[in-house]
Amino acid sequence: MKPLIVANWKCNPTTLKEAKLLFSRVKKAGGIICPPFVYLSVLRANGAQDCFWEEKGAFTGEISPLMLKNLGVKYVIIGHSERRKYFKETNEIIEKKLKAALKAGLKPILCIDKMSQIPKNTKGLIIAYEPLFAIGTGQACSIQKAKRMRTAIKRAAGITVPVLYGGSVNAQNAGEYVKLAGFQGLLVGGASLKPREFIDIIKNVCYG
Ligand code: PGA
Repeated sequence: MKPLIVANWKCNPTTLKEAKLLFSRVKKAGGIICPPFVYLSVLRANGAQDCFWEEKGAFTGEISPLMLKNLGVKYVIIGHSERRKYFKETNEIIEKKLKAALKAGLKPILCIDKMSQIPKNTKGLIIAYEPLFAIGTGQACSIQKAKRMRTAIKRAAGITVPVLYGGSVNAQNAGEYVKLAGFQGLLVGGASLKPREFIDIIKNVCYG
């Protein structure tokens, strides 16, 4: 399987013009790009950062997995630590979202930082190991620890579940997580907003 490199733009950038420029510079490199919802249809991006657990109805402000699917989106990040922290998403809420995303035909990328966040049923999931201390801090996880976690996650979730690493990934360290620690891809936050750096990450991992 070709490594999956996922760009999580989070709540950036603030104008459509910037979003178009960033997207136009990275799209050819072949990653999964997850921009904010408002830019999805214009960019025709293949990834989203979250979704609701119902298909439709009276749920003001929510975006359903079916809407994303019908827009051409293929992947959706679910349970990111920022959603757990700022929006109080629990394992229970996250499991409802995972089910709904799968039902809509999306591929969910479940973010976890501990083993207790792995659901019982992992069929169809991609799991991203994102240790809290490494997210947005510039302090990436050591390769040894990441590798141990990857093994533990595979053991708990099943060998066929792809496991990605996320947390302060940059063009220097990207290759190691895939080549030395055995991850099947990366979830990239801050560095995905820098086109040159993001393209270098893909090059190092996929062709380096
Ligand atoms: P980071 O974010 O690459 O900026 O550490 C990763 C993430 O939050 O998914």
